[in-house]
Amino acid sequence: MTRDVVVGLGSSLGDRRLALRAALRALDALPGTEVVAVSRLWASRALGPARRPFLNAAARLRTDLAPRRLLRACQAIERRLGRRPAVRWGDRVVDLDLLLFGSLRRRGRDLRLPHPELLRRSFALLPAREVAPELVHPVAGRPLAALPLPPGPPCWPVGVLDGAPMAVAGGQRGRYMPATLAGRRTGAWNGPPGSRREPSPPPRSRTMKIFLDTANLDQIREAHSWGIIDGVTTNPSLIAREGGDFVETIHRICEIVQGPVSAETVSQNAEGMIEEGRLLARISEHVVVKVPLSIEGLKATRVLSDEGIDVNVTLCFQAAQALLAAKAGAAYISPFLGRLDDIAHEGVGLIEQIVGIYGNYPELGTEVLAASIRHPLHVLQVAMAGADVATIPFKVLAKLVEHPLTDIGNERFLADWATVPDTDVAGQVRRWLAAREEGR
Ligand code: E4P
Repeated sequence: MTRDVVVGLGSSLGDRRLALRAALRALDALPGTEVVAVSRLWASRALGPARRPFLNAAARLRTDLAPRRLLRACQAIERRLGRRPAVRWGDRVVDLDLLLFGSLRRRGRDLRLPHPELLRRSFALLPAREVAPELVHPVAGRPLAALPLPPGPPCWPVGVLDGAPMAVAGGQRGRYMPATLAGRRTGAWNGPPGSRREPSPPPRSRTMKIFLDTANLDQIREAHSWGIIDGVTTNPSLIAREGGDFVETIHRICEIVQGPVSAETVSQNAEGMIEEGRLLARISEHVVVKVPLSIEGLKATRVLSDEGIDVNVTLCFQAAQALLAAKAGAAYISPFLGRLDDIAHEGVGLIEQIVGIYGNYPELGTEVLAASIRHPLHVLQVAMAGADVATIPFKVLAKLVEHPLTDIGNERFLADWATVPDTDVAGQVRRWLAAREEGR
């Protein structure tokens, strides 16, 4: 399914125009994607610690990519153009935000649609209105052109990205197509000075995500309270083990985790998987549909991912299977470590191979979800191999926290602390703060 998408672009470092132009070209080169309009350039004073004003623009895309695939492709473009992790609102070479994705609404940790800043920042809304005045904001329920401008830092137009003439279509001010995008696609690298096309791309995720591999609600609630859980994977065996109502269980897990939750199809043909997948995706926006790695699974993956449904292709035991799953549009591939170890194959080697292959082709955009993890060493190994996600049983996760030297060290600190005249830390700090207040 082709969707109208609005992407916000920003830059405050280096040659900002060059970086924005390179980002536009990279967006236009994504598979199944075309940049159909670009706004004027807008400048805004930095909100945070950035030293220079930001230059902002918006691009309107027509894309067949599913939301998370486009998100990951945008992140890959940012990294390729030299963006490094930075503080919020800090300087950056290039920033790409999915502002609007058709009428889709997503409330995940990693993906929020429409982008919450779209209604709050004029540097996002002003350029977006230029390229998509008639698109309806799915939360506000009104076309972008009719939305009031938010208060906030001033934002002013500073020309266009190219020497291209403005094509004023239907009286819409500022809609134009830069010459670099009008009808020609070049693979030539044109990033900001100092950046280069990297032969082996940097790691695709900035952090390894941790999913819990269980359908047990108590375990999920407990691990979630630790503040480290990004998602959950289930499978028919895990659901059967808990014995509750399947749909209700998935719904409750989504409510707790507010992140990707894999729910598996059981049909063995594509038609059935697609039907089950579409229904499962209606339980919650957080549902990721799991299908087995088979020809039928690949067919279903293509159809579901084209509809914007994230698919986790499971039961992967060799790297070539993972390549096919990515080609079919999978959001995640699940290689099974433990089950390979069980038959005397080194499971972590498979993770390394897949991470290597996907690293060669970052625009595939599929995340490597290391599954069938049996012990803490597996977690360490997959993190070192660069997996995007490790899905971990609760027992293994709990073991990761423990170390006898931590316990011994803690006991020793407490024993020494017991010898000081006042052991009440909070009381001491409160008295000190109160005394300082009085002294002012
Ligand atoms: C998760 O997605 C997998 O279904 C799970 O990790 C399989 O684990 P197992 O091999 O321990 O059953």
